[in-house]
Amino acid sequence: MSANHDAEIYRRRRQDLMACMRGGLAIIPTARQQPRNSDVLFPFRPDSDFYYLTHFPEPEAIAVLAPGRAEGEFLLFCREKDARQETWEGRRQGLLGAREQYGAEQSFPIGEFHDRLPNLLENRARVFVTMGRYRDFDRELLRCTRALRAKQRAGVHAPGEFVELGHFLHEMRLIKKKDEQKLMRAAARLSAAGHRRAMRSTAAGRYEYQIQAELEYEFGLGGSHYPAYPSIVAGGANTCIMHYTENNRRLQDGDLLLIDAGAELDCYAADITRTFPVNGAFSAPQKAVYEVVLAAQQAAIAAIQPNQPLSEYHTAATQVLTDGLIDLGLLHGERNELVETHAYQRFYMHRTGHWLGMDVHDVGDYKVDEQWRLLEPGMVLTVEPGLYLPAAADLDAQWHNIGIRIEDDILVTRNGNENLSVDAPKQIADIEALMADA
Ligand code: GLY
Ligand code: MN
Ligand code: MN
Repeated sequence: MSANHDAEIYRRRRQDLMACMRGGLAIIPTARQQPRNSDVLFPFRPDSDFYYLTHFPEPEAIAVLAPGRAEGEFLLFCREKDARQETWEGRRQGLLGAREQYGAEQSFPIGEFHDRLPNLLENRARVFVTMGRYRDFDRELLRCTRALRAKQRAGVHAPGEFVELGHFLHEMRLIKKKDEQKLMRAAARLSAAGHRRAMRSTAAGRYEYQIQAELEYEFGLGGSHYPAYPSIVAGGANTCIMHYTENNRRLQDGDLLLIDAGAELDCYAADITRTFPVNGAFSAPQKAVYEVVLAAQQAAIAAIQPNQPLSEYHTAATQVLTDGLIDLGLLHGERNELVETHAYQRFYMHRTGHWLGMDVHDVGDYKVDEQWRLLEPGMVLTVEPGLYLPAAADLDAQWHNIGIRIEDDILVTRNGNENLSVDAPKQIADIEALMADA
């Protein structure tokens, strides 16, 4: 059983989803194990939708929700117990664990899914699935539906409608309940501790991967089995590569180091970026750019309020960044026009944030009826403005290789917001003090 399993939480989630399904059937497989090389597999990570509804941590499992079904509404197909296999591969819940620990009303060996599927689909008009995620599963479903159609003359009804499960489920996942907020707070705190350790351990001559090791060591100490996404540890010119993950360069005196990394805890992600000088003291140009990004980030965070449209915080960030770029002499012209023509995009090419939850780029619509949706308590989003000034011929050399991003994880609350990643220092004085103390 995985840590802190509270079966009631997951039962309630399944009930909430079933209440939206109006008699339909939902089939939710977990993720596949992915081969890495020869007979070695990548570490297994459950499918987020599946895990959100079951908390069942093992591979080779499929959940079925069948509202109104007399023999049971929650079925779990999973691996059977097998003493010999478990000696080699690790413990399994088995059919009994699925029922007793995870609240399945019925459990079946995963190998029986194929044979039991027609019976489950029969006479269900609508079937909710995560379409397009697992191709062999989609094929199996279609094959079975075709077979049922062939039996129509015998009075059997095949499903008439396949509905994207995400329509309902992802709206549920978008609003984080108290237990989820607690996990996300813990993931962000642990990640912030990793960032602090990285700051303390950074020095010229060390390699990016060594700082990555310091950071991820701290994640591991706190119980995170893996980072929520590949850690970006980017020094010097690499700070201007958005998704740099080679992490193999040596850090130079005078360079900045940009770290974008977060721990995953029980399948909830943190996503934090900090940028700081390798030698512990910002140079004047680095400081000037940093202050612009920090001001943009603070303006964006202030715009995160319940009932505010989601677009507001991006607008706030781009206005402050544009003002800053004008002050630095990097953009020329009238401010509002520069904002409207997106002139800042040369130096700021991504949006200001995204939903955060079980997935680092979490599920949930950003627009409803073509309008940016209004923020609601329980939503969590990142705020991550940046400026990226590569060594371009038309940029004054003092700006070269200054890439700065500052990213926090913000929970929308009833009265405003809560910064979950507040423990990672971002004021210049705090960063310099921490690094001087190391
Ligand atoms: N770490 C990926 C992102 O910030 O979106
Ligand atoms: Mn990030
Ligand atoms: Mn992010």
